[in-house]
Amino acid sequence: SANASTSRAPAQQWSTRISFILAAAGAAVGLGNIWKFPYVAGENGGGAFVLVYLFCIALLGVPMLMAEVLIGRRGQQNPVNSMASLAREAGAKPAWKNVGRLGVVTGFLLLSFYVVVAGWALAYIPITATGTFVGLQPQEVGQMFDGHLQQPLPLIGWSTLVLLLTLGIVGRGVRKGLEKAANLLMPLLFVFLLILVGYASTTGHFGEAVEFMFKPDFEKLTASGVLIALGHAFFTLSIGGGAMMIYGSYLSPQVSIARTSILVAILDTAAALLAGLAIFPIVFAYGLEPGGGPGLIFVTLPIAFGQMPLGTLFGTLFFLMLSVAALTSAFSLIEPAIAWLTEKRLMSRFKASVLGGSGIWLLSLGTVFSFNIGADWTLAGKTFFESLDYLISGWMLPLGGLLMALFTAWVMKPEATAEELDGDSAAYRLWLVLIRFLVPVVIMVIFLQAIGVIKL
Ligand code: PHE
Ligand code: NA
Repeated sequence: SANASTSRAPAQQWSTRISFILAAAGAAVGLGNIWKFPYVAGENGGGAFVLVYLFCIALLGVPMLMAEVLIGRRGQQNPVNSMASLAREAGAKPAWKNVGRLGVVTGFLLLSFYVVVAGWALAYIPITATGTFVGLQPQEVGQMFDGHLQQPLPLIGWSTLVLLLTLGIVGRGVRKGLEKAANLLMPLLFVFLLILVGYASTTGHFGEAVEFMFKPDFEKLTASGVLIALGHAFFTLSIGGGAMMIYGSYLSPQVSIARTSILVAILDTAAALLAGLAIFPIVFAYGLEPGGGPGLIFVTLPIAFGQMPLGTLFGTLFFLMLSVAALTSAFSLIEPAIAWLTEKRLMSRFKASVLGGSGIWLLSLGTVFSFNIGADWTLAGKTFFESLDYLISGWMLPLGGLLMALFTAWVMKPEATAEELDGDSAAYRLWLVLIRFLVPVVIMVIFLQAIGVIKL
């Protein structure tokens, strides 16, 4: 196809369509699926929330994912340069490249707290494997987690390890690093998830979990629950942070963006639902609270792991799976910055990794300290970690997604988007309607409600 710029060299492309799907699914499936989805679903009453979430994924998430991948694939460069060259092609203002900059910065900031939470997961592998939870009382398990958060040095050690693993892979480049890791880790992740669901089904409370997750009780759904479902749908598909844009830029022109994006969304959704089916039967079997909040998997689950047969084995497997999911997302969060540094500033991948990694490491200290020595450094009642999470998930990702949607829908020439998306298919026409009207309207409504102009 007539791209806006020349295509990347083959060594700078995914070698197969499957590799892209696995890498993009790796970016999508992360802490959002296994840590966040179950607890927000639990807090918001289950079934009805899940239903709204599924609608958001299908009607808003998939078209937005396609838009972001499309920009990358047609631009064939890092998010900043891709936006710049597509703006040029469309005869639009060069300022559109700021959307690429926003993506790079968002990914960078998000990774700074992502590595900390991923570090908790990594730390819980040896903690669980050594049988720490066996026979502990619920409040002792809670105290363990609190105690874990109290000590800055070990927390820094674990998040540093996550960052080093990430840089070790990303530093190797697209084929030897990102692609190889995704091809190995993603199948493993799904095998682990299925094993854990199988294990959960032996607790005798599987039916209760299925009912909790899939039987909608609209009495339990609030307006804020709907907004949370929507925000989480963007977050979980990695929309708006430049990750899918950079991965799209490594995609060969022959591959169908619509089909691969739908598949990635299906894999991400499957991972979230399977995580719920692995977690809730255990929670119910031990009479615990499904609305356990952020501590659901670090406190509620370990209580159960300490009591159930083979709990040490399956608990270890659980935190291993969580770490794998977090790592493959971490790759995608730093890749936009690294590609930008190498392609723009003419720096080697290695140097870019060291530089980017150091910046993220420094910033991650803010999140680490917000659980201990900096717990009272608050802004509008939010700790550093909570402020960063709110800023990114509540504002930066939706804003990035909105701008990308507007750009592909209204700024790019329809001939250009048609060329990337099989212009004569019914799917293309449906995409165009959703991305032009539904997506912008819904995101603007969220923003208006967030700044208090309207009240839902
Ligand atoms: N989708 C990832 C998750 O569910 C988070 C993420 C957001 C990753 C944006 C990359 C970009 O955990
Ligand atoms: Na996800």
